[in-house]
Amino acid sequence: MRAKGEAFRTIWQKPGDPLVVQIIDQRMLPHEYVVRDLRSWQDGAHAISEMLVRGAPLIGATAAWSLYLAAAAGRCAGNAQREVQLAADSLRKTRPTAVNLRWAIDRVLAVARASDEQHLVATLEREASAICDEDIEISKGIGRHGLPLLEEIALRKAGAPVQVLTHCNAGSLATINWGTATAPIYFAHQKGIDIHVWVDETRPRNQGSQLTAWELAENGVPHTVIVDNTGGHLMQHGMVDICITGTDRTTRSGDVANKIGTYLKALAAHDNNVPFYVALPSTTIDWTISDGIRDIPIEERDPREVSQVFGLTREGTGTVQTIASGTPVLNYAFDVTPARLITGLITECGICEASESGLARLFPERAVRK
Ligand code: MRU
Repeated sequence: MRAKGEAFRTIWQKPGDPLVVQIIDQRMLPHEYVVRDLRSWQDGAHAISEMLVRGAPLIGATAAWSLYLAAAAGRCAGNAQREVQLAADSLRKTRPTAVNLRWAIDRVLAVARASDEQHLVATLEREASAICDEDIEISKGIGRHGLPLLEEIALRKAGAPVQVLTHCNAGSLATINWGTATAPIYFAHQKGIDIHVWVDETRPRNQGSQLTAWELAENGVPHTVIVDNTGGHLMQHGMVDICITGTDRTTRSGDVANKIGTYLKALAAHDNNVPFYVALPSTTIDWTISDGIRDIPIEERDPREVSQVFGLTREGTGTVQTIASGTPVLNYAFDVTPARLITGLITECGICEASESGLARLFPERAVRK
């Protein structure tokens, strides 16, 4: 996947200044392409909590790089291990739902504990870099395994476009590159399959209309933005062949937490016999829990995300308030789609049924450890 005509990553070390990590400020897209510097672990924590970066895999990668920055800051004072632990404790609290955050922090901490103070910075730099490289390979694996689903639909439709519906941004911007839900779409597009994507706007933060639409456009993939309430109508009229979404946390039994509104799309898909797939890296599976509705913590965010909308005004980018001041607002960021509504899980290791036995078949070592 490309952006601005070039191959890209969503997080990288600044060329010539490896103690600075750079990110794209996703709050500004699609109107402005702004690169920001992360110079401390606190900058990384701010980028995650304020959603300059977002999407489960990128949240994890940003935490990993933040721990590297913590080690670098602690090195001068001779307390790098302590600084890394301090940073880890704070980073854990930045966003509660995406399990990749915990996964990445635990992975980097394990490596940190096995390292001596002298080599800590270099060790964490290697680990953060490895997490990013692996994430790209994982996304490509999801693309490879998801592609046959789209090829089969294309064959059946004899040249008519394959109509995919997606929610939120489970694209390149949510990962290091390629995305999860979008990887099969990019693979199909590159293979010359005629494909069109219905992009859910995804209120309140509009990750669909502002991020997914942007990256699909950058890569020449035909798409149309729809408001979140439109998907059911399209499905009733045979205008959606398949739904593919991402996930922030998947339980070992295949329940899936994803951006608020995903559940309603799964219900509509179920009612209309539209296959509903969830694409996920294995780093998004939480093997410690089974019941998603009971056990997945659902993030509640600032009411202003609902009462205000960000966009392009005549004066430049800005925010407008759309509801009366003082109106009570509730802003849950995620919901849980039960496994029974999911046709299949597309992972880097293959496609499986959304169930404990399905996941255990693909990941036998992880499944037994719980
Ligand atoms: O609140 P966000 O923008 O971080 O939510 C992101 C999503 O819900 C994505 O669909 C999910 O992280 C999957 S990303 C590969």
